Amino acid sequence: MLSVQKASTALGAEILGVDLSKEPDERTFQQIVELWHKHEVVFFRNQTLTPEQHVAFSRRFGELEHHVRTDVCKPGYPEILVVSNIIENGKPIGSQDAGLFWHSDLCYKAEPSRGSLFYAREVPRKDGEPLGDTMFASMTTAFDALPENTKKRISGLKAVNSYLKAYHCDRKSGQRPPLTEEQKKKVPDVEHPMIRAHPFTGRKCVFVNEGYTIRINGLDQAESDKLLAEILAHITKPEFVYRHKWQDGDFLMWDNCSTQHCAIADYSLPQRRLMERTTLRGLAP
Ligand code: OGA
Ligand code: MN
Repeated sequence: MLSVQKASTALGAEILGVDLSKEPDERTFQQIVELWHKHEVVFFRNQTLTPEQHVAFSRRFGELEHHVRTDVCKPGYPEILVVSNIIENGKPIGSQDAGLFWHSDLCYKAEPSRGSLFYAREVPRKDGEPLGDTMFASMTTAFDALPENTKKRISGLKAVNSYLKAYHCDRKSGQRPPLTEEQKKKVPDVEHPMIRAHPFTGRKCVFVNEGYTIRINGLDQAESDKLLAEILAHITKPEFVYRHKWQDGDFLMWDNCSTQHCAIADYSLPQRRLMERTTLRGLAP
């Protein structure tokens, strides 16, 4: 029997009593989907999964994405993106610097991702304490808490997201190879509504973020910068945030419409971090 332990924060819940290596029956699966939509971030501890099982469970939600950076996918598994600081044979085995700013995955595409399913294989530790936490912010709660006049002001507006903004911003670790022209062509700038109805719950979500949003359409740049800065400062206030402390074997799912996330790079080799992500295809807002 499945049970739930809600975090004391605006979002986040642990689901207990499920072994994801044994395909959950349909009823259990539907319960998981409902809990995910409700709590926005859900996680299962102590899971032991093969890459095949990770992919198979993810596929039950629908189509999976193949990331634009094939250099950071798990060899033989184009659906699995590796997030890691590990170097093997002189080469990074995954993305060394994923998400060190607030963002949601694939918000720079015309059809942003529905959600990401993240499996923690190795969590860095210091003096017994885990490092490399990830923060999640609830975009439904952040929307609800906006002043009424701001809600009205931004509700009809659209903003532009650019993959290149985040790709080239200052990085704390590692150096990324320059994108090829072919990779760049795959990720042209896109325009999305600043406020988006969640495709399953209908709740309104703020859909601009620090990492990728470059401007608000219809405003001059100074006005756009000012309004964007105001919204960005609001949406990641501590009261909207859940901070996950990872354990080896955690399997955590976040919703890329109702949440944003930000990684904390407070570890370095020989403290190893090895995480694997599948990414669900989503609908255009
Ligand atoms: C990601 C990401 C955060 C982390 O994989 O999409 O942003 O803590 N990762 O590794
Ligand atoms: Mn991310």
